[in-house]
Amino acid sequence: MVTDVKSPREYVGAGFAAAQDLGADVFEVQVPEYGRNSVGPEISTGQGGTLRLPEGPVEACKNADMVFDFTLEGFIHVPERTEIRDSGTRILRVGAREPFYLRRLMPWTEDEAQAVKEKVQKHSQLLAETDEMRITSDHGTDVTMQVESDTAFDSYGFVDTPGKWDVWGQNMVSNYPTNVEGTIVIAPGDYNVVPFADYVNSAIECVIEDNYIVEINGEGGDAELMRGHMESYDDRDVFATSHFGWGLNPHGKFYDMALHDRKPDETGVSASEGRVWSGNMLWSTGPNTHIDRYAPCHYDIAQKGCTVYLDGTPVVEDGTVVEDIV
Ligand SMILES: [Fe+2]
Repeated sequence: MVTDVKSPREYVGAGFAAAQDLGADVFEVQVPEYGRNSVGPEISTGQGGTLRLPEGPVEACKNADMVFDFTLEGFIHVPERTEIRDSGTRILRVGAREPFYLRRLMPWTEDEAQAVKEKVQKHSQLLAETDEMRITSDHGTDVTMQVESDTAFDSYGFVDTPGKWDVWGQNMVSNYPTNVEGTIVIAPGDYNVVPFADYVNSAIECVIEDNYIVEINGEGGDAELMRGHMESYDDRDVFATSHFGWGLNPHGKFYDMALHDRKPDETGVSASEGRVWSGNMLWSTGPNTHIDRYAPCHYDIAQKGCTVYLDGTPVVEDGTVVEDIV
C-alpha cells in the first residue's frame, strides 16, 4: 500500500484485510503529500509529470508483487511508474471515491471481469489498427490526429498480469497521438476531471496546431480560468496534447460527480468515474512519458456528445459507443 496522509484509512484497512485473506504479506509505505498539496517549489496539478517518488518507496514497490496506490494524486505520468512496472509489479490505483461508487464500477465475478477485459481489449485493438482518428461534435469540435499504435492502451479497471497498471473500475482505451490538428470545443456540461474536478459552465474553444494548444477562446469564465491556469506555469509543454480515447464503463454516469466527490483535495484526482463513463471522449494535455515529456500540469477533459471516427468509421457516435463495432 502506497499512501499519503490523506489516504482514507478505512480503504487502507480494507486493503490489509483483503490481502491477508489471500495469504499475502502486506505493508504500507507512506510518502509525503504529493501534487497540489505538496510543500515546496514543485507544485503540480496532480498527475503532472514533475513529481518524483522517493527512492526507498520505489524500491519497496519493485520488490512487491502488487501495489495499491492510495495516494491523493497518484503516481502516473512519472518515470518511477515505468520503473516499477518494468520490474513486474502490478499497480492498482484506487481513487478515494465513496465505497459504493467503487463497488459499482468493478465487475465482481470472473465471468463479468473476463467480459469487461475482452470488450476493452477489442476496442484497444481497434484503436491500435487505426491510422487516423477524427473527433467531431455539434458544438464545433473537429480535430484529427495520427494514432500512435505503440502507445495504445487498454484500461479495464483491474490488474491481473505482471507489470499491469490500472485505475480501479476504469474502462477506457487511449493513445498518445501525433499530428493533432484542429479545434476542440469543451461544451457546457462537459467534465474537467483533472485538475478542477468540476463541470464546465461556458464553452471553451481550444485551437490546436501541431500537437499544441495555440489559442483558448470563450466568452464565459471557463476559458479564462483554463487559460490563466495553464499560462501560470510559463511552460510550453503544458499546452501540448497528451492522451486521447473514449470511455467504456456502462456503470459510470456523467452526472454522478454532481452528487459526490467533487473536492479534489479530499477525494483525489483519480475519481475514475469522471473519465470512464461509456461514450465519453477523453482527451488531455501535458505529460507524455513515451517521449519523456514530464510537464507539471495535466488536464483530463471528458466530453459528451462527440463522434469519434477511426479511419472514417465511428466507434463512438454522438456520445454513444457503437455496440456492434467489435
Ligand atoms: Fe490523463
